[in-house]
Amino acid sequence: MAKNTLSITDNRTGKQYEIPIELGTINAMDLRQIRTDAEDFGLMTYDPAFTNTASCKSRITYIDGDKGILRYRGYPIEELAEKSNYLETAYLIVKGELPNRQHFETWEHNITVHTMVHENIKKFMEGFRYDAHPMGMLVGTIGAMSTFYPEAKNIFDLDSRRLQTRRLIGKVPTVAAYAYRHSRGLPYVIPDNELSYTGNFLSMLFKMAELQYKPNPVLERALDVLFILHADHEQNCSTSAVRAVGSSQVDPYSAVAAAAAALYGPLHGGANEAVIRMLVEIGDVKNVPEAIKKFKAGEGRLMGFGHRVYKNYDPRAKIIKQVADQVFEVTGKNPLIDIAVELERIALEDEYFVKRKLYPNVDFYSGIIYQAMGFPMEMFPVLFAIPRMAGWVAQWAEMVRDGEQKIARPRQIYIGEDTRRWIPMADRPEPLQREESVSHQI
Ligand code: ACO
Repeated sequence: MAKNTLSITDNRTGKQYEIPIELGTINAMDLRQIRTDAEDFGLMTYDPAFTNTASCKSRITYIDGDKGILRYRGYPIEELAEKSNYLETAYLIVKGELPNRQHFETWEHNITVHTMVHENIKKFMEGFRYDAHPMGMLVGTIGAMSTFYPEAKNIFDLDSRRLQTRRLIGKVPTVAAYAYRHSRGLPYVIPDNELSYTGNFLSMLFKMAELQYKPNPVLERALDVLFILHADHEQNCSTSAVRAVGSSQVDPYSAVAAAAAALYGPLHGGANEAVIRMLVEIGDVKNVPEAIKKFKAGEGRLMGFGHRVYKNYDPRAKIIKQVADQVFEVTGKNPLIDIAVELERIALEDEYFVKRKLYPNVDFYSGIIYQAMGFPMEMFPVLFAIPRMAGWVAQWAEMVRDGEQKIARPRQIYIGEDTRRWIPMADRPEPLQREESVSHQI
């Protein structure tokens, strides 16, 4: 019978090793025994950007990138997007099971009672410059929240973890909406707990002089579906950030602020903005073939296409395309959609994209929908961060409870200078020579 092991021959020494394979992986520490002599540190792996390294075991999200499958706790994303709502999906992600009615109502209540923020948080946010980026405000304010809830540092206390989880999921739309209102010079709108999670968010964003804001049910549901689609995506950049920072045992607000900072970057939370800019630049359906030609020649990339993990149609992109049609029925069509559809049509038939398995990802259509709903582009990463909070806190709590985890501390391959002697300043090389030295560059 085939053995679940890996045999390695070290050709430097001729020695042989047998290493167990568990769950399709080898344990990197098992390589450390492979040494040339007693002085040797032992073999390591080199994996910049962790493209082939599992950093944890997780029960939360499953992705099969080749088949285009995404599941939260075993439930296919398509079913959740069709039948669930964001708060129920957040419960599923955080707690591992779908709630029964009573558990859902308690959860909804527990989140809703935490939608208000401390008055000093509002004051704190007033201190941002009039033109501050809403995502910068969100990152800073989530970090500042740790000072309002000092007991959050008790990360091994289950009750404390639960309380911070509810607070974070409950307050993130409020902080996000305040950031938006601040950047528009509009007064803050207090949460309306009569409304749904997304309905209340729309109210805090767009309420003007009316006594009660009534969200359009189609837009409310569309946003809810988009929130479901963005709730978790296993070990992406921001989730890895929350786990790495949280592994120092810092409080969850600080760890989640780090995750939000990761999401601020254009390669993570900013791709849908790049899609809009690209579509505007293309300008017209008739210019699409020319644009495709340029992408194929390496002049820029077809933004919203391709994914590190998905080598098939991103299942979220399929759902988003349907949501777009529903939203446009209410808002009128975003003219950029025609350019996007034509780009997709041509790219999916083109050998360049087919051969490289480049398909639309979640960002290809999401920006077009957000724009049609009236969101400025700076809000796009904020709209991503709100639902991802469920994923971040669930992944953080899973990491805290995981006995195999320790403080995250990758290794490096040192390629710098060997030991050197300090020399007096007067004897050091001239600046010109020093600038040429690679090690002097920052
Ligand atoms: N347009 C044109 N060519 C592309 C594209 C694209 N969007 N994406 C990849 N390619 C090509 C590359 O040029 C490369 O071609 P080559 O083999 O001839 O050199 C090949 O496909 C593989 O590309 P890599 O960059 O090695 O793939 P990687 O997995 O590292 O990158 C990424 C994935 C970053 C998402 C990439 O596809 C890309 O830049 N896409 C556009 C940006 C985008 O939409 N980002 C959002 C991702 S989803 C998210 O973060 C939520």
